[in-house]
Amino acid sequence: MQHKSVLLDETIFAINPKKGGIYIDMTLGAGGHTRKILEKSSPDGVVIAFDKDMNALNYAKDTIKREFKDRLILINDNYANCLEHVHKEGFGEVDGVVMDLGLSLDQIKASGRGFSFMTDEPLDMRMDSSKALTAEKIVNKWDEDEIANILRIYGEERFAGRIAKNIVRSRPIYSTKQLADIVKECIPKNLYKTIHPATRTFQALRIVVNDELEDLQKGLLSAIELLKNGGVICVISFHSLEDRIVKNIFKENKSNNKLRLINKKPVIPTKKEIFLNKRARSAKLRCAVKTEIKET
Ligand SMILES: C[S@@+](CC[C@H](N)C(=O)[O-])C[C@H]1O[C@@H](n2cnc3c(N)ncnc32)[C@H](O)[C@@H]1O
Repeated sequence: MQHKSVLLDETIFAINPKKGGIYIDMTLGAGGHTRKILEKSSPDGVVIAFDKDMNALNYAKDTIKREFKDRLILINDNYANCLEHVHKEGFGEVDGVVMDLGLSLDQIKASGRGFSFMTDEPLDMRMDSSKALTAEKIVNKWDEDEIANILRIYGEERFAGRIAKNIVRSRPIYSTKQLADIVKECIPKNLYKTIHPATRTFQALRIVVNDELEDLQKGLLSAIELLKNGGVICVISFHSLEDRIVKNIFKENKSNNKLRLINKKPVIPTKKEIFLNKRARSAKLRCAVKTEIKET
């Protein structure tokens, strides 16, 4: 795996894994956070790790699971369903939860599923390959208005209308390169100095194909529910739509006295981390402690 974990030390510092602790990694990926928690909670801490991409699970089975055996429980499902799974595995409350959102570098670079406009691949974008909706279906079958809408909402794309029109006019569209070129034609050249012109369109399609924001809300609420008093939740997000959801859910739970925020402002990577891993540059880490006293 090529993926480099983002904000790893900062997350582990906040979670503070202890021996005998029970932890959830909602987004296993290449297993960087899971491994560190297992190491720090030796000899008997447990991690329940979720990923909806079977490739991540297979990699963990061959590596981390071999080393840590029963201390790692791997679950191939959406983290939005974590509540049922954790209870089914026989656990009640947990000591910590990590969510490291988005994609691993291995999905972006080597999955062949069209997550990136940097390589020419089929327009798929599913993290869970068993689901029916693909990016190809959206660009070839949805109405112009529907496409414009998702680009506006989930890509925060100023040129959503123009891009949607060009997409519909250019059908059929099968590859990431074809789509990236169609988007590029719609955006004035002087506006894409800092990011690639197709970045927002690809973000919007990926969010819709994978139901990312709905799952994030559901997953966050379940995670907060699962935490024991004093348990810590850490969420790493990579764009403003994700961060807004995390910020708002933390805020609501703070005013209900269910959470205490560890840091008012999100933790961001150091210059050194960004230098070593460009993908970390947009990361934001928010951490909170469960404070609710349950009625008996
Ligand atoms: C950024 S990677 C995690 C990297 C990991 N923390 C590490 O250090 O190696 C995010 C992972 O979360 C998975 N993922 C994203 N959304 C998910 C969801 N709703 N349910 C389960 N897994 C999800 C992706 O398939 C991906 O493997």
